[in-house]
Amino acid sequence: MTTDPHASLQPIFAARFADPPTTHEDAADTDLIRSMAGRGSCRAFLDDPVPAPLIETLCATALAAPTKSDLQQRDIVLIQSSDIRQRLAELVAGQAWVADAPMIAVFCGNNRRQRLLHDWHGVPFANDHLDALFNAVGDAAIALGAFVTAAEALGLGCCPISAVRNEAAAVSELLQLPSHVFPFAGLAFGYPASAPLISMRLPLSVTCHVDRYQEAGLRDAVQTYDRARAETQPYDKQRFLATFGDDPDYGWSTDKVRQYNAPERDGFGDYIRAQGFKLD
Ligand SMILES: Cc1cc2nc3c(=O)[nH]c(=O)nc-3n(C[C@H](O)[C@H](O)[C@H](O)COP(=O)(O)O)c2cc1C
Repeated sequence: MTTDPHASLQPIFAARFADPPTTHEDAADTDLIRSMAGRGSCRAFLDDPVPAPLIETLCATALAAPTKSDLQQRDIVLIQSSDIRQRLAELVAGQAWVADAPMIAVFCGNNRRQRLLHDWHGVPFANDHLDALFNAVGDAAIALGAFVTAAEALGLGCCPISAVRNEAAAVSELLQLPSHVFPFAGLAFGYPASAPLISMRLPLSVTCHVDRYQEAGLRDAVQTYDRARAETQPYDKQRFLATFGDDPDYGWSTDKVRQYNAPERDGFGDYIRAQGFKLD
């Protein structure tokens, strides 16, 4: 289903969830919430460039998002050089649409600044374990989410690109990322060629818990979700067809287990360690 940004929240949620909220506050039915609820990733763009002042505003908005302990451990690298952009697009091979995106930014986790502060103050950095990475990952992810929310609310289309981590060392070198700075995800954005598709999500009954985590009815809910997606939003192509063959009931869970039947980015831990992080 495509979105009408002026429609009310109810049909948007109905397209997204098998168990949409039955009621919602009228006060929540704003342009921003409709944009957030009805959003979808965009991988096809008009040629129009995104004005530089708008990009700057979006960066400022993204970096205003919450940050763990006010540590501010995320940075955005805007790719303006056509040469770097071309090389970045080559490094995310297999995703041809990236090369045609009007603008690409790379959201990075940055634990380096914190370590520099320690150097400057002559105080040892003692938090040198997995937490240092985790905090920076969270900060980068939150900033990316905020950027996407703001950009989409202003009529832009966006798609994150985790594929920048496929060749993380090469991307690091290309962007001259020093130790303790790492790419979390790229973000392609621009004016969308068409309205976003509302991709169905798992029912709220299995992803939204009250007081305690629970898995009652999970398997049935996933099967029902699989069938609904296969009917209303069938996948264009099936992963690893040669290995698994054609599945007429190919749904979300089939896609996900096929995806991780093979490792992705299994060198990423080595890259992160090479960037100076300890993962214990
Ligand atoms: C951190 C992150 C990385 C992503 N990386 C890619 C990517 O490399 N290529 C791509 O086409 N989509 C990528 N996506 C987009 C997801 O595939 C998309 O959000 C998901 O399929 C749900 O679709 P929707 O955003 O349209 O609801 C990424 C999304 C996130 C949050």
